[in-house]
Amino acid sequence: MRNRKQYTIPLPASLANFLRNKSAKSFLDVGCGYGRACFFLHENGYSVIGVDVDAEQIRLALEEEKALGINGEVPFLVNDARNLCFLDSSFDAVAMLGLLTLVPKSERPKIIDEVYRVLKPLGYVFIEEFGRTWTNPVYARRYREDRKITGETGTFTVKDESGRVLHSAHHFSRGELCRLLRVFRVLSFEESVFTSYYHRNWVKGYSILLQKEVK
Ligand SMILES: C[S@@+](CC[C@H](N)C(=O)[O-])C[C@H]1O[C@@H](n2cnc3c(N)ncnc32)[C@H](O)[C@@H]1O
Repeated sequence: MRNRKQYTIPLPASLANFLRNKSAKSFLDVGCGYGRACFFLHENGYSVIGVDVDAEQIRLALEEEKALGINGEVPFLVNDARNLCFLDSSFDAVAMLGLLTLVPKSERPKIIDEVYRVLKPLGYVFIEEFGRTWTNPVYARRYREDRKITGETGTFTVKDESGRVLHSAHHFSRGELCRLLRVFRVLSFEESVFTSYYHRNWVKGYSILLQKEVK
């Protein structure tokens, strides 16, 4: 990837391994950014569609697809995760890598409902998200100070070097993620260390594999 902000959370190598012996074939990457996970999954033999609310990210993904010589093999669409443009039960698996961290609290359940809707019964969801990291003093201070501005513990403003606010981000507690994702069966919930996107600080990371149960 040339000359652009690189996202830092790990690509879902463990997911590709997990799915290798399963029948899952079709994948939706929600909040796909410039498409790095889509290209990774495509290389691993999956049929993938990437969606992102940010038209510039989709433009970058399409540019990269062309550069990789796989033009048109991975469809990329501008689409808001709160209102996905797919029919019910369309996909075997959905990935959401670092999407929820950018979504305001009131909007997160809408995205989970949409992911549930477009997944086939017994379909898989793979999520990687930032965990609340009180043990990193950089974040502990930001959680305390920014709570007054953002109104939510764990939500803080991300600023550039000149102090200009770029956006808000949220770091999840394990319990918070479990409550948000309770409609799914948890197959695995692993904790590791990620690196933040902008300032490259270390932060707790969660890799979660879920399954849509048949009702
Ligand atoms: C931190 S980036 C991660 C991108 C990608 N998943 C990766 O790991 O390389 C999060 C992405 O989510 C997208 N996003 C945020 N809110 C969204 C929404 N409501 N619907 C779709 N995409 C959204 C952002 O535009 C951004 O590209």
